[in-house]
Amino acid sequence: MCGIVGVIGNPQAVDVVTTGLSRLEYRGYDSAGLAVLGPAGAIHTCKAVGKLAALMAKIPGFNATLPTPPTTAIGHTRWATHGAPTEANAHPHVGTCGAHTIAVVHNGIIENYNEYRTTLAKQGATFASETDTEIIPNALAHRMQGVGVSLVQAVQQLTPTFRGHFAFVAMAQGKPDELVGTRRGAPLCVGLAEGASYLVSDPLALAGICSRFVYLEDDDVVHLTPNRLTITDKNGLPTTRPVTTLDLSTEASGKQGFKHFMLKEIHEQPAVCARILQEYTDAQTLLPCLPLLGLNLATVTTINIVACGTANYAGQVGKYAIESLSRIPTNTDIASEFRYRTPPLRPGDLFIAVSQSGETADTLAALEHAKANGQQILVLTNTPTSTMARMADAVINLQAGREIAVASTKAFTAMVLNLILLGLQLGHARGHLSGAQVHGHTTHLRTLPGLIESMLSHTGVLQKVASGLTGSHSALFLGRGMLAPLAYEGALKMKEISYIHAEGYASGEMKHGPIALVEPGLPVINLATSTDGLFEKTLSNLQEVAARRGHIILVTDDAGATQLPLSGKQGLTLVTVPSSPPLLAPIIFAVPLQLLAYLTATEKGTDVDQPRNLAKSVTVE
Ligand code: M6R
Repeated sequence: MCGIVGVIGNPQAVDVVTTGLSRLEYRGYDSAGLAVLGPAGAIHTCKAVGKLAALMAKIPGFNATLPTPPTTAIGHTRWATHGAPTEANAHPHVGTCGAHTIAVVHNGIIENYNEYRTTLAKQGATFASETDTEIIPNALAHRMQGVGVSLVQAVQQLTPTFRGHFAFVAMAQGKPDELVGTRRGAPLCVGLAEGASYLVSDPLALAGICSRFVYLEDDDVVHLTPNRLTITDKNGLPTTRPVTTLDLSTEASGKQGFKHFMLKEIHEQPAVCARILQEYTDAQTLLPCLPLLGLNLATVTTINIVACGTANYAGQVGKYAIESLSRIPTNTDIASEFRYRTPPLRPGDLFIAVSQSGETADTLAALEHAKANGQQILVLTNTPTSTMARMADAVINLQAGREIAVASTKAFTAMVLNLILLGLQLGHARGHLSGAQVHGHTTHLRTLPGLIESMLSHTGVLQKVASGLTGSHSALFLGRGMLAPLAYEGALKMKEISYIHAEGYASGEMKHGPIALVEPGLPVINLATSTDGLFEKTLSNLQEVAARRGHIILVTDDAGATQLPLSGKQGLTLVTVPSSPPLLAPIIFAVPLQLLAYLTATEKGTDVDQPRNLAKSVTVE
């Protein structure tokens, strides 16, 4: 979380920073700020609490205080970890010792900041914020003053002493022609252009400004002047890193007529599914052809799928698909739990990280652990240039296109569809499925774009359900089999953007405790497909809720709706989706759940695309 932009050698430095921050707001929007080096080498800062718009309102006044447009600037958009979202805690943070004043923007956490703070305070440092960040400029200034080293040397010497995952960029008063950056775990890359250089958390910040990028490795320290780039590695030795050319101009931007990015992204799902099926199934045979060449499938006895949030629920659907289609035992884990319970890992087995951003710190830590234990690494990500992708033996690009809304929708669908294709490909490779069987499945999958399309144009019932939900404090989501993870995902979507407390449960688990929550009128959203052989059992669970006068909202397919006993229809609200083979159900059922959360949130008037307390990319553990 948090977005960083650093600019050197560009007379439009302030514009570049603010434009870059607007593209990095997905990383956090609790506060924003920037610092520039004025012509006399003095550091000037400007900060504001809240979204970037608040900072932008201050920029004309700030610019007016500067005698000439600065060419060096650093900027930051914050997702608060240490310290509330206040102006004092907003970045950049500045530290002074003797003749040295340093400004820093930082992403991630310095875990041993308290030890530093105590030591620095004893040496006379004063702190104006509650952040961990503030120790960085102070420690650097003290180092420079104490042992007479330059800024880059101070960063090289101190970075190994900072614990945690982080990236930061520093500039020094009186040194208008240099920026220094470093990273460990959190992303930071250099952008290269004629006469100017940049440091950013994500190349997207520089779309239209430069196309050549250098990705830094962990503990690299980069020293930038307008025309020169010097990198040292974790041992302090000079090194070079490859230059990657990226075409960022093709990234679709704007809401394209939709009220919110989330709605636009929900509507993109037919196209996303079509793209995945075109890219990853052979046009002639219709057999899946995911890019798995970097893996040795012969050694795989077990698969571990590890992810967070929505990606974890997609992974849980993937477990059902892979186990049933390939018969390979498959575990799923929340990344933050997997890493620290040190599970036994068999070398040669397959570890699958699922991550829209490819930067989520918990998933990254789990991946590093699996890699260190000899697992083969497959990454499913929407960001093929991400840190996770660069660490993988094989990468499946989700093909969802950039997702802007914090609440994930099309990336979830893309994850599920790719995992289903993976199950089919593994099942075929293992001889568990014949070519004809796989062909049958992919033929069905090809109907997905049309089926989703048809659902998107019929939202009338969902709108009514959403209106009913706005007054509720709580809701339950229930599903069985492949639809159990969909119930979890439906509840997550609802709480993320409507702020209504929602819980997802496997239907059969209700009677073991959660049914105590059911009281007259409690909305209980049941997901049931008529094609998975579990329909009758689900109807029984539904009766248990009805008996306690919960308000049942049944999402089922057209065929399921006709099978409902007449008595069972009383008092329930029916939402129908097109009938489909069971393998398609998790994708089909995702759509009404996304729309329900979206419609409820818009009716409540919440900030749909940037809900409170959240960020799109979670790069702290
Ligand atoms: O980028 P990732 O897929 O690794 O992100 C994982 C979660 O942080 C993410 O899915 C989160 O739960 C979303 N806000 C859900 O809508």
